[in-house]
Amino acid sequence: MKVLAFNGSPKMDKGNTALILEPFLDGVRDGGAEVELLYTSKLNINPCQGEFNCWLKTPGKCHQQDDMQLIHPKLRESDVWVFASPVYVWGVTGPLKNLMDRIIPLVEPFISLNDGHCSHPLRKGTRQAKIVLISNCGFCEMDNFDPLLAQVHAMCRIIGFEFSGALLRPAGPLLAAMLEMGASVKDILDAAHDAGLQLVRDGAISGRALQVVSRDLMPRETYIQFLNQNFEQALAAIR
Ligand SMILES: Cc1cc2nc3c(=O)[nH]c(=O)nc-3n(C[C@H](O)[C@H](O)[C@H](O)COP(=O)(O)O)c2cc1C
Repeated sequence: MKVLAFNGSPKMDKGNTALILEPFLDGVRDGGAEVELLYTSKLNINPCQGEFNCWLKTPGKCHQQDDMQLIHPKLRESDVWVFASPVYVWGVTGPLKNLMDRIIPLVEPFISLNDGHCSHPLRKGTRQAKIVLISNCGFCEMDNFDPLLAQVHAMCRIIGFEFSGALLRPAGPLLAAMLEMGASVKDILDAAHDAGLQLVRDGAISGRALQVVSRDLMPRETYIQFLNQNFEQALAAIR
């Protein structure tokens, strides 16, 4: 099994997204799958120009000479796509969204009805992959992930991929702080690892693993106080 993962955080391996993504990918490797991890911050991916050349003039090929020339073949050959991103204004980060928009050459322009919904058939040569979403956000409510979840669900439905689940970590900065303080959050990292292992071994991620990744870290009021104190201190330091 080939797993292709994208980390859309500008903080790359030092960010809060990586705290969940990395144990997940370790689990995938432990299950025996092949993993490739790419950071969108290191890639040169232009926005889609929207002229549909990849559908109508050079079918299946994008004319833009940027890193999508390397990524398209990797996407075509992978069994699992992992999109990992912090929530940025209720969506994925801009560079990751550019990458998502640029998957269009992998599908045909033709529209068919699939389960009563418009969809685009996959072009020949592209594997029918599964998609996993990994995200973290600053706020502590799970509904902060709703727009991202809706986007990835819709993407799966339109290209006929299976959505294998989402590892969602609200109050992401608090997880990082608790790890630094040596607080007991190992169960969360272990659950992310288990999710990766389960995906390879069982073909699916258990609801239990996903729940543990998202579990409460502290009461919301205490978290708000903690964040506001941090902001106060940071601003005091520049006064
Ligand atoms: C430009 C920007 C927009 C953000 N938008 C949201 C948001 O809409 N909702 C939210 O809960 N957190 C938001 N955050 C907070 C990040 O999701 C959070 O800090 C996260 O832990 C960053 O992950 P990273 O360290 O992997 O980059 C935003 C942060 C930035 C810099």
